[in-house]
Amino acid sequence: SSEMLVDSFGRFHNYLRISLTERCNLRCQYCMPAEGVELTPRSELLSHDEIIRIADLFVTSGVDKIRLTGGEPTIRKDIEDICLHLSGLKGLKTLAMTTNGIVLSKKLPKLKECGLNALNISLDTLVPAKFEFMTRRKGHSKVMESIDAAVELGYNPVKVNCVIMRGMNDDEICNFVELTRHKPINVRFIEFMPFDGNVWNVKKLVPFAEMLDKVRQSYNGVERLQDHPTDTAKNFRIDGHVGTISFITSMTEHFCAGCNRLRLLADGNLKVCLFGPSEVSLREPIRVGVDDAGLKEIIGAAVKRKKAKHAGMFDIAKTVNRPMIHIGG
Ligand code: GTP
Ligand code: 5AD
Ligand code: SF4
Repeated sequence: SSEMLVDSFGRFHNYLRISLTERCNLRCQYCMPAEGVELTPRSELLSHDEIIRIADLFVTSGVDKIRLTGGEPTIRKDIEDICLHLSGLKGLKTLAMTTNGIVLSKKLPKLKECGLNALNISLDTLVPAKFEFMTRRKGHSKVMESIDAAVELGYNPVKVNCVIMRGMNDDEICNFVELTRHKPINVRFIEFMPFDGNVWNVKKLVPFAEMLDKVRQSYNGVERLQDHPTDTAKNFRIDGHVGTISFITSMTEHFCAGCNRLRLLADGNLKVCLFGPSEVSLREPIRVGVDDAGLKEIIGAAVKRKKAKHAGMFDIAKTVNRPMIHIGG
């Protein structure tokens, strides 16, 4: 593994998140404004070959985990082909996807054959009418079907990402916990984070401590598990449950010290921190013929500019970033 992926705080980045598209078949309130966002012109999006070239360079430099995000990754036409090529990269151990699950169930057997071996599915409510309000689209039953299909196909655990917003779905925390009683899933309660266009407000944030209290009031035997140092989630088991629950505490207890993540956006920009506005284009040098050594220099320099930690929720909320739909989480 190479120097290119080590930042000035000694953090080694072995996890690359690739956003495959800026489009989505939902319109979640926490992710984008009602009117949508401006789309990058097609010619400025990375092609299949450009994605594979960049991914290959990262994997030969020590990345062993790639997560496909979006927008919604499953709506990209060449998704199977991309999975097939990425999973064939020597040294890659995990090819993961974060998806909203709307069109997943029918595509999943093929995606699994193409090497997709880890799956996170977003679901923020168990109430169909609320799903339609939060996502501005229908499709609750499709997501539930996809979760079951993923379990059936042997993904273990299937991670279910649940962004909690006060007054919206914080009354459903225990109903989500209940899902883990018989399903081998990991439900992850996520603190609401500020991004451009999502009208973040600290009053809508339900802190980790408060969420955990709620769970402890209804369940006995809630036990903290040992986390991996690079984990975004704090993990817990509950007596008698086959699944587990976790909390992603980006706002009240950030986990930047263990950060191992870099992001390649659909337009070919490399983003070294979810909340850092600093980005560098890899598409532009590639299109004027840069060689791998030149590309490595650009990437290495960007990684070295990465900050120790994010600026804190109130500063983040004031800083210009991108809408979440562009970043992919
Ligand atoms: P695993 O690889 O399965 O642990 O998933 P993940 O948490 O890395 O990725 P996922 O796409 O499922 O994201 C879950 C939540 O964690 C989302 O709200 C992401 O925005 C958030 N998240 C992912 N990576 C980072 C990160 O580097 N920093 C912060 N602050 N949040 C992150
Ligand atoms: N705060 C926290 N998590 C978010 N996600 C999208 N927007 C936000 C936000 N504002 C989650 C999605 C998805 C993951 C990639 O990020 O629900 O599961
Ligand atoms: Fe890493 Fe930035 Fe996320 Fe912190 S906020 S964990 S530094 S990506």
